[in-house]
Amino acid sequence: MCYTEELIRNICVDIPNFISGKRLAHTYAVEQECAALAAIFSAHPRLFSQEDTFRLRIAALLHDITKEKTKEEQLALCEAYRIPLSDYERISPKVLHAKTAPYAATAYFNERYAQNVVDDGIRDAIYTHTTGAARMSLIGKLLYLADYIEPTRTFEDCIALRGRFYDALPSVREDASALLAHLDSVLLLSFDMTIEDLVKNGACIDPNTVAARNAILFERRHE
Ligand SMILES: [Fe+2]
Ligand SMILES: [Fe+2]
Repeated sequence: MCYTEELIRNICVDIPNFISGKRLAHTYAVEQECAALAAIFSAHPRLFSQEDTFRLRIAALLHDITKEKTKEEQLALCEAYRIPLSDYERISPKVLHAKTAPYAATAYFNERYAQNVVDDGIRDAIYTHTTGAARMSLIGKLLYLADYIEPTRTFEDCIALRGRFYDALPSVREDASALLAHLDSVLLLSFDMTIEDLVKNGACIDPNTVAARNAILFERRHE
C-alpha cells in the first residue's frame, strides 16, 4: 500500500461522520501523539518503517470510530461481523468498540479508498488498544500508549504515565533496545495502574490486560 499525507488528510475529513465533540478532539490528539511517537521510533528504521508511521497514524484516526454506538448496536455489529466475544466482553460495553472498530473501519475505508488501506497491522492495533493483549505489535503498543497519554487527557494516571515516558526518553532514545525496554516498562506501569484501579473499585479485570502484563514481565525476565 502506498500511504500518503493526502490519504491521512482525507481520513481526517471522514472521521466526523463517525464521532463528534470530545471524542473527535481526542481522536485527533491521539493521531498527533502517534505522529510524535512514530518520529521517535522511526529514528531506528529497522524497528519502525515509514510505512509503519502511516499505519500507526491511520490506526489512531480509526481506533474509536464505533465508540458512540450503544451497547445494543455494538452487540449487533459483533453479531453481523461474527466477532467472538468472551463472557467478560459481553458485560463490558467499554471494551466492545475496540472489537467492532477494526471491522467497521475495514468495511468503510477499504471500500472508499483502496482494498488494503486498513490492513492486518492496523486492525490488530485497534483491536488491542483498550485492554492490551498477550501479543502486541509495536504499532499496537504505541497506539495503546498514545491513547493513554495524549495531551487532552487530564487524569492523574495519564499525567504520571506521560511524565514517565517523556522524562526518561533522552537517556534511551538513541539505543533501539533501550527504547523498546523503556516502552515496555511504561506499558507495564499502565497495566498495573489499570488493574489497581479495577481492584479498588471491585470491578472485573479483563483477562487480556493480565495477559499483556504477564507477557511483558515474562519477556523482560527471560532476556
Ligand atoms: Fe478506545
Ligand atoms: Fe481512544
